[in-house]
Amino acid sequence: MKATPKIAVGICSSISVYRSCEIIRIFQKNGCDVHAVMTKNASLLISPLLLTALTGHVVRIDSFEEEPSDKIDHIVLAKTIELLVIAPATANMLGKLASGIADDFLSTLFLAVECPVLIAPAMNEAMYLNKQTQENIKRLKSHGVRFVDPEKGYLACKDEGWGRLASSGRIASQGMYMLDQSISLKGRAVLITAGPTREFMDPVRYLTNRSSGKMGFELAREALRRGADVTLISGPTDLFPPRKAGFIAVTTAEEMEYAVLKNAKKADIVIMAAAVSDYSFAKKSTAKIKKSDSEKTVELVQTNDILKNLGRRKGDKILVGFAAETENVRNNALKKIEDKNIDLIIANDVSEEGIGFNSDDNKVSIIYPDGRTIQTEKKSKTEISQEILNAIEGIIGQRS
Ligand code: PMT
Repeated sequence: MKATPKIAVGICSSISVYRSCEIIRIFQKNGCDVHAVMTKNASLLISPLLLTALTGHVVRIDSFEEEPSDKIDHIVLAKTIELLVIAPATANMLGKLASGIADDFLSTLFLAVECPVLIAPAMNEAMYLNKQTQENIKRLKSHGVRFVDPEKGYLACKDEGWGRLASSGRIASQGMYMLDQSISLKGRAVLITAGPTREFMDPVRYLTNRSSGKMGFELAREALRRGADVTLISGPTDLFPPRKAGFIAVTTAEEMEYAVLKNAKKADIVIMAAAVSDYSFAKKSTAKIKKSDSEKTVELVQTNDILKNLGRRKGDKILVGFAAETENVRNNALKKIEDKNIDLIIANDVSEEGIGFNSDDNKVSIIYPDGRTIQTEKKSKTEISQEILNAIEGIIGQRS
């Protein structure tokens, strides 16, 4: 976090809108330079002039009401803030954000930011508990957005129930925690592998697996959000690499080994989420192997175990492996920790539907060498990445 972190507070048209002034003040007292963004309806409830006076910056409401300029204001703001807080957030705004609708300054800013986002909803209880609202919140959480849940109490509509904006102190302290976390890996070089490898039998046929790369790519995104210097080495996938990561594309296990060993030298943390093939073909034909009338047997040879190799010369590095298992998940994972001399293993039961290979979600056991285990729920790979990086930061904390 910079000495004076620049943040934006987005304000929607809930009755609790008056509390946004207090939230802004607490962030300012914590040393933040706050920029306010309002929806048009929020500006009917409290005066933008009040927020301009409070923040010392012109309040943004509508992208098309700005003075003509060669700069695109929401992009400039998106690139320069370290945190976006939306408090209060209405059901309408949650729906827009969850669907990618960008039709005003705040929703456009949300799509453009790469910094962490914190949302504090406030609305009537029936609207908050409405299935659609809950689905929108779940979706946003699965994309890495954090929430300060509303509290139960007396609501503006005279109902008693869930939906009251969380206390200003809770919102600000969660925001400050996220600002701290946004630099928690600053200065650390993190090497992450992702995706499958392909082992060629001839120019057109290969041995591979079902890895999509999603787990490794999400880990890279989360490490970037925490300020790390990230190198992502990936086998073939359909994914766009995170913008700020150094990206190395490889195809075979041998290429992955070369790239990892070369880049691991400068890494403080290595996370091997790639599904590296354990075998390759003993003979690789340079021409397409022709069909014949007889059965064919091919010989497979073991590939080098990249992680085990790193474990032999570990030094101060933190090494994290994954274990993709279909049976005896815990025991097999524990054996891998010892065999590869690593600090943490992330075990996933890849026989379970909806998690592991090629899914958006995962459910993992984060296992330490002494057997301590953190068992996660089934969550998006973005949220699983947060838990894995929290565990890694715990190891860093113990060492320092
Ligand atoms: O890519 P996704 O679709 O998102 O799926 C995610 C995943 C299921 C691929 C991921 O969560 C996962 O489990 N990755 C590791 C898969 C694997 O190869 O597991 P393993 O148990 O065979 O290997 C153990 C560890 O050794 C892994 O960290 C692996 O990267 C590493 N290894 C394996 C073989 C080899 N030759 N060299 C290695 O370094």
